[in-house]
Amino acid sequence: MAYVRACAESELAEDTPLRLVLDGTAVTLVRTEGEVYAINDVCSHAAVSLSEGEVEDCAIECWLHGSRFDLRTGRPSGPPATQPVPVYPVKIEADAIHVDLNQES
Ligand code: FES
Repeated sequence: MAYVRACAESELAEDTPLRLVLDGTAVTLVRTEGEVYAINDVCSHAAVSLSEGEVEDCAIECWLHGSRFDLRTGRPSGPPATQPVPVYPVKIEADAIHVDLNQES
């Protein structure tokens, strides 16, 4: 499996995370600072949805305990989370956002 269509480009507003389930995997899409990112929706600390967090400085903040995950790498910048969250490659084609779930990093 390669890239799957996630949504139309117009459905993703700037700095407003969008949670989608793609092939059974919950993914949060974020458009910020001119780029689109895809990160697994589940916080690595206590399994809550990252899509409900705030976006700032190319990171998404977990609403429950405040760990911030870099949208480029999935790595937390501080506690309580210590483990990264998978991130996925994104491409935009024919006005739609596509995500490759097989290439998590
Ligand atoms: S559940 Fe996300 S930091 Fe605790």
